[in-house]
Amino acid sequence: MGSKTKAARAKIAWHAFPRRTVGTRSLFGLALGISKGIQMTDEKNTVILSGIRPTGRLHYGNYFGAVKDFLRLQDEGHDCYYFVADYHALTTIKEHTDYYRQTLDMLRTYVACGLDPKRSTIYRQSDIQSTTELALLLGMMTNIGHLERGTTYKDAVSKLPGDSTSRPDGNPISYGLLGYPILMATDILIVKSDIVPVGHDQRQHVEMAIDIAKKFNHRFGETLKIPRSVPKTAVRLPGLDGGAKMGKSDNNDLGLLDDPKLVLKKIKGVPTTTDPLPLKTESNEPDDVIPEMPATVGALYFFLHLLAPKDVYLDFVGKYRRGEKFYGNLKTTLAEHVSRFNAPIIEAFHAPGNTDETVEEFLRENAQKVTPVTIETVEACREAMGIGRSLYR
Ligand code: TRP
Repeated sequence: MGSKTKAARAKIAWHAFPRRTVGTRSLFGLALGISKGIQMTDEKNTVILSGIRPTGRLHYGNYFGAVKDFLRLQDEGHDCYYFVADYHALTTIKEHTDYYRQTLDMLRTYVACGLDPKRSTIYRQSDIQSTTELALLLGMMTNIGHLERGTTYKDAVSKLPGDSTSRPDGNPISYGLLGYPILMATDILIVKSDIVPVGHDQRQHVEMAIDIAKKFNHRFGETLKIPRSVPKTAVRLPGLDGGAKMGKSDNNDLGLLDDPKLVLKKIKGVPTTTDPLPLKTESNEPDDVIPEMPATVGALYFFLHLLAPKDVYLDFVGKYRRGEKFYGNLKTTLAEHVSRFNAPIIEAFHAPGNTDETVEEFLRENAQKVTPVTIETVEACREAMGIGRSLYR
């Protein structure tokens, strides 16, 4: 994204852009599983924004659930903003953390996967100083009752033992946790986002951001750009334990940087029954076949379908139907495909041009690039609310 677009955006009011649809040829509907009902526009600089918590190394759930879409949107030439939500990570903090280290590792993995800091604007939430300012302003106008309905907060409260205010994992029910949706609204509104692709668990927060922006504009005059309603993201990967969702904390993940030995060990560790149940469906499609299998076996087939050529997958479905002994073979075949997928990512992760220093350099550059538009937003909000623009910055 060139600096030209930024400059242009600074001068032209967002609502001056007419919204036109591209018709049924949804530009990135498929990429994100965005529901077909959402109208895309052909305006050049549609701002796409998503935040990612610094989790360190990435797993397949992250890749197929998010990174792949980020890459596609980047390749389609949209104005993509991807940032590391390191402030949000602090909603779980008991002691000194490794979040900075994890941020660097995660971004090196992103770059290894093909995310390009020259084409996508990749930055750290905490490098954008206006974020804390705008979060404070939005916090002043948001009713607590609204925040208490936020899923992250509600989940944490519902899991409290007795009348304790500490979570079972030792993390506090903090002011920051209650304010989670405000901070997220800030991230979204501060760069004037159009589209915010997120997983299912974050949709409510994006809807809250839209509500907050509408309320602001209603009370203080048209100031904030209202993002379009939330696209549906579809892909959720099962865990190797047969669980519904792959997650690092569930210990059921396949990592993008896992070496062949570890891959084989993880896949061999997936429990498989010796006697496959007969399949009722005649279809060979994964959506029909996998639900009929024991969950862990289904997970193996899911990944085989995802990574191996179709005929390899079909061959193993045939073996399953015939009740042959094949689990050992299935596991080594799958492990090979996983390792083949990982190999170029591992190589790029360790490439000489992909170091902590190069990541820090693009983080610095991109923070510098994003800062003007964020100052513009927060200044407009200050003025609209009546404390006037900053006299010293
Ligand atoms: N809360 C998101 C998550 O946990 C991360 C996030 C923070 C985010 N700010 C955002 C996502 C703004 C989209 C837009 O995954």
